[in-house]
Amino acid sequence: MKHRLLTFAITALMSLQSFANDPLPIVPMPREIIPSSGSFSLNRPLVISTDEYPGDSINRVMQPFVDMYEQASRIKVMRSDRNPNVKLQRDDSFGPEAYCLDITPSRITIKASRPAGFFYALQTLSQILRINPTDIPAMTINDSPEFGWRGFMLDEGRHFFGKDEVKRVIDIMALYKMNRFHWHLTEDQGWRVEIKKYPKLTSVGAWRGSNRLGWGDAWPTDSTTYGGYYTQDDIREIVSYAKDRFIEIVPEIDIPGHSQAAVASYPELLACDPENDHEVWLSQGISADVINVANPAAVTFAKDVIDELIPLFPFGYIHLGGDECPTNKWENNAACQKALAKIGSENYRDLQIDFIHKLKEHIDSKPADQRRKLIFWNEVLHGNTAPLGDDITIMAWVGADRAALEASKRGMTTILSPQIPYYINRKQSKLPTEPMSQGSGTETVEAVYKYVPLANVPDNLKDKYMGVQANFWTEYVSTPEVLEYLMLPRLAAVAEAGWTPTGSREYDNFVNRIRRHAALYHQNGWNYAKHIME
Ligand code: ACM
Repeated sequence: MKHRLLTFAITALMSLQSFANDPLPIVPMPREIIPSSGSFSLNRPLVISTDEYPGDSINRVMQPFVDMYEQASRIKVMRSDRNPNVKLQRDDSFGPEAYCLDITPSRITIKASRPAGFFYALQTLSQILRINPTDIPAMTINDSPEFGWRGFMLDEGRHFFGKDEVKRVIDIMALYKMNRFHWHLTEDQGWRVEIKKYPKLTSVGAWRGSNRLGWGDAWPTDSTTYGGYYTQDDIREIVSYAKDRFIEIVPEIDIPGHSQAAVASYPELLACDPENDHEVWLSQGISADVINVANPAAVTFAKDVIDELIPLFPFGYIHLGGDECPTNKWENNAACQKALAKIGSENYRDLQIDFIHKLKEHIDSKPADQRRKLIFWNEVLHGNTAPLGDDITIMAWVGADRAALEASKRGMTTILSPQIPYYINRKQSKLPTEPMSQGSGTETVEAVYKYVPLANVPDNLKDKYMGVQANFWTEYVSTPEVLEYLMLPRLAAVAEAGWTPTGSREYDNFVNRIRRHAALYHQNGWNYAKHIME
């Protein structure tokens, strides 16, 4: 007996020491890890039992884990309620994304209230198994996210990546328990979603006369015919793929600025100067060729587009852009001047707000299951937002902390996606091997990791902050290799800010854990920034 107690004490001590010296490679860091003694041996078949759950949801969560385990270990997994050594138990006291993963030498027990919680528990377990497929140290992990919005935005307007790469991006997000994919589908340089009522958006607007987007003499255009778009069937397929990984998709139609591809497709409805030529833009920057918001045909167009988007994207939000919209063309357009006078303002930004207001009224008048909440970039705060009410969400990017605070003070919810350092398309090192992109290399993994989301936010406004989001713009990025290189591992750093409370985040500890994820990146064939991983 004495001997057994001693063994227990030594094993418990060893297990604690190994946690301290060699943290488990779990990213994002769980809220609480309580080590105990012994380990669960992986040298035996797994026998899994699951509680009853409505529909097929638990099996859909379980099956990818079973496949991964059988492939990695070549050990059979069985489903049986007799002597299970892995048990999934429903416990309604847990929050919607929370879980408990309890590992003892004889059994792994997972508790959660919702399929998402089970999915996240299995993601944690998979990370441990795939990185180090030996025995699992006994422990209890109690985990739940800090924020409900843990997002990633991909700009497919500037460059189009296609279904396979979007699914890989979704897989990367799922690995890190991210849950919102913001799909930037329209730009000056390309319109990427089929809208049946306006076929020229994709027959004209999805194509341009250069792959490279010009930026002065230093970055000339080429003469390739370049483009692509998603059919509505493609969209449904990807929405469903994401949903299986507990990721909801928010489409963005960026209007009335960043809309030159739409204007080029339907100048007679959308242009401020339909008498002139309009083409899908070949350049980077901010185009002045914006939608004529004073034209009722443009309002009808936007409503029609929204009407086709709503059934494609069942999640409760649509993003209507609103950033970087020059007003020069409105200022020189008689209809716009008249429309501004009619709303009693001298600020042309209010013309944009009036346009949005019409779209919001249209959405708000729909039956409840078709209504959507609207998200905008923070420039809309430069107008009089009173007509919009406060039930909109501001995605804060430029002067993000200040803009988010302003939005929350106006009663709106907000999402933090600060350009510096959360635009993870920007160069992440000063190495000569760094691919061409914006920035000078200061948005390092460390800079991204060390951003503190709620620094200086008064307690009474904190509940307006829905969470954090990394954004990826693709002016310079046209290949999956560079996209993944710039995403990894910086996306993991943002994911940890979204999941783990600031007080439990520590950069050196993160580096120790993330370096071991190189093994996962290799297993999946994902490219990544190797310089910080060794
Ligand atoms: C943005 O970066 N223009 C939202």
